[in-house]
Amino acid sequence: MEKTFAIVKPNAIKKSCIGKIIAMAEDAGLKVVAAKMHTLSTKEAAGFYAEHSARPFFASLTTFMTSGPVVLLVLEADNGVEKWRKLMGATDPAKAAPGTIRKLYGDSIEANSTHGSETLAAAQREIAFFFDK
Ligand code: CMP
Repeated sequence: MEKTFAIVKPNAIKKSCIGKIIAMAEDAGLKVVAAKMHTLSTKEAAGFYAEHSARPFFASLTTFMTSGPVVLLVLEADNGVEKWRKLMGATDPAKAAPGTIRKLYGDSIEANSTHGSETLAAAQREIAFFFDK
């Protein structure tokens, strides 16, 4: 079993899509093993997305991610990291496959409804960023 880290982003929460997104995860076999609703501080958003700090979209991304509450999730499944990434679809909703979460609930590449860890190492780091053992 593999744990991955997910965020339901502010735009999806404003559209009342928390339940729909979690239902898609559960229906795909991803079990919710930890969850909390939280409004990120600027420091948390900047720390979480530190690897993107030199990118032109960094300031806009951290502003968006602090614009309202998010839901932080630890999801678990066989091959959980890849399973969640496939279910979310491409980063840019315009390029995401039909039926994926980002295609259904994403509004733009920034407000793309959900985050998911890229690798197992990233998942472990990101889970530890928001959840204690
Ligand atoms: P996420 O999975 O949260 O990881 C990093 C985020 O940066 C990504 O989803 C997008 O929301 C955002 N992002 C990536 N590329 C761009 C871009 N070109 N313009 C704006 N935001 C981006």
